[in-house]
Amino acid sequence: MTLPPAIEAKNLFKVYGRHPRDAMRRLRAGATRAEVADAGSAAVIDASFTVQPGEIFVIMGLSGSGKSTVIRMLNGLLPPTAGDVLVQGTSVVKASAKELRGIRQRSISMVFQHFALLPHLSVLDNAAYALEIQGVGRDERRARAREILDRVGLGDRADAMPDELSGGMRQRVGLARALTAGTDILLMDEAFSALDPLIRREMQEQLVELQRELGRTIVFITHDLNEAMFLGDRIAVMRDGRIVQNGTPEEILTDPANDYVAQFVQDVDRARVLTAGSVMAPPAATTPVSAGVRGALRVMRDLQVGAVSVIENRRFLGTVTDRAVIRAVKDSRTDLRSLVRSGRPAVHVDDPLTGVVERAVESPLPVAVVDDAGRLVGTIPRVTLLAALGDVPPVTRENPVIDLPASVPASEIAQTLAVVEEPGAATGPAGRAAPPSRLAPEGPRAMEGASR
Ligand SMILES: Nc1ncnc2c1ncn2[C@@H]1O[C@H](COP(=O)(O)OP(=O)(O)OP(=O)(O)O)[C@@H](O)[C@H]1O
Ligand SMILES: [Mg+2]
Repeated sequence: MTLPPAIEAKNLFKVYGRHPRDAMRRLRAGATRAEVADAGSAAVIDASFTVQPGEIFVIMGLSGSGKSTVIRMLNGLLPPTAGDVLVQGTSVVKASAKELRGIRQRSISMVFQHFALLPHLSVLDNAAYALEIQGVGRDERRARAREILDRVGLGDRADAMPDELSGGMRQRVGLARALTAGTDILLMDEAFSALDPLIRREMQEQLVELQRELGRTIVFITHDLNEAMFLGDRIAVMRDGRIVQNGTPEEILTDPANDYVAQFVQDVDRARVLTAGSVMAPPAATTPVSAGVRGALRVMRDLQVGAVSVIENRRFLGTVTDRAVIRAVKDSRTDLRSLVRSGRPAVHVDDPLTGVVERAVESPLPVAVVDDAGRLVGTIPRVTLLAALGDVPPVTRENPVIDLPASVPASEIAQTLAVVEEPGAATGPAGRAAPPSRLAPEGPRAMEGASR
């Protein structure tokens, strides 16, 4: 059985003023908020979107763009001028006052920016307040509130009074109160905006973690694009009452619908939003570990690169450089595995670029990208990384950028391959390769090695 969407907003309008019908007619014909100003104040114009269960859906836009008006229509605090809102399949627009109370208790709760904690109640009783309204007994509601307070890091402050807490802590009590209510859907209107940047960042991370753990659906309003990009599975961008784009953070960042959105995303911390998977190039230079050092060297020669990724059973083992391989060949070592640079793990496809940047700073090698099974799915050369961070047009497929050029002259690689592929040299330590000064030119024997 598939769940109904958590929320469906269908062609929502909210028009204040004396002539809403007249304004509506013109808005439906495409008029802007400014053009109907004589007839009314068009707070929200034809907003439609769907929020799936377990999703963090962010509504973002400048002050006055209509965000709060939208969110208030989602839980029936404001009746729309036109349109409908379904919460888990039930219309809140058509619901009676009694039904609406039920929906708010069971399905949808709200965290405001400056929600009032009840000053005469302890942190614990504030957190348990929604359950009290629901008629849950004292012991049970206190036990459940305690559990949630632990989750938001306030377990040791349960008995404090609100005025003994910092702003950030109070905000967390508000979050705990909404979480304790046990509703599937949380509406959060600028819930973190009053916090200083460090605490705010911490709260954002905590919210993502809580959401993963508890699987709630969250509609989060913010005018801060970095916050939107960090939290949102999807983001709706609002301007002058209309939703001008609705997409994933990456879609909005890499393919803004118009100049307004493009201007918005200019200052985004791209490293925190883009994932390794979104910027990686297909892995070009790879070799199976079984191909040995000569196999690796051949790939480097053919592609003219200074490093290759070593694969075993499709899993990524690590990277080898041309210098290391040439040295091994000259020392008559054949085992590629021992050359793989350890201590430089790959990044996961879903990792943000911040992690990739760290790797790229440590070493000039392209950063390997793996999936859940540890399979190599791409690499990120430094140039690709820099292009992504600087929003430079992506590299075309026909002309792959090779980040690490060969550090050993091609002629030396060719000569080394030729010598090693002499009979005996390939059989292991017993057959020492000739010193570089006596390298033979690459001859027909090279083909024997190639067929191995
Ligand atoms: N009761 C009202 N009467 C008339 N106009 C209103 C009313 N409430 C809101 N508006 C107008 O509707 C528009 C949207 O307001 P809303 O509060 O939804 O914006 P917002 O995006 O939440 O802004 P902010 O970021 O400042 O909170 C604004 O232009 C506002 O002036
Ligand atoms: Mg608002």
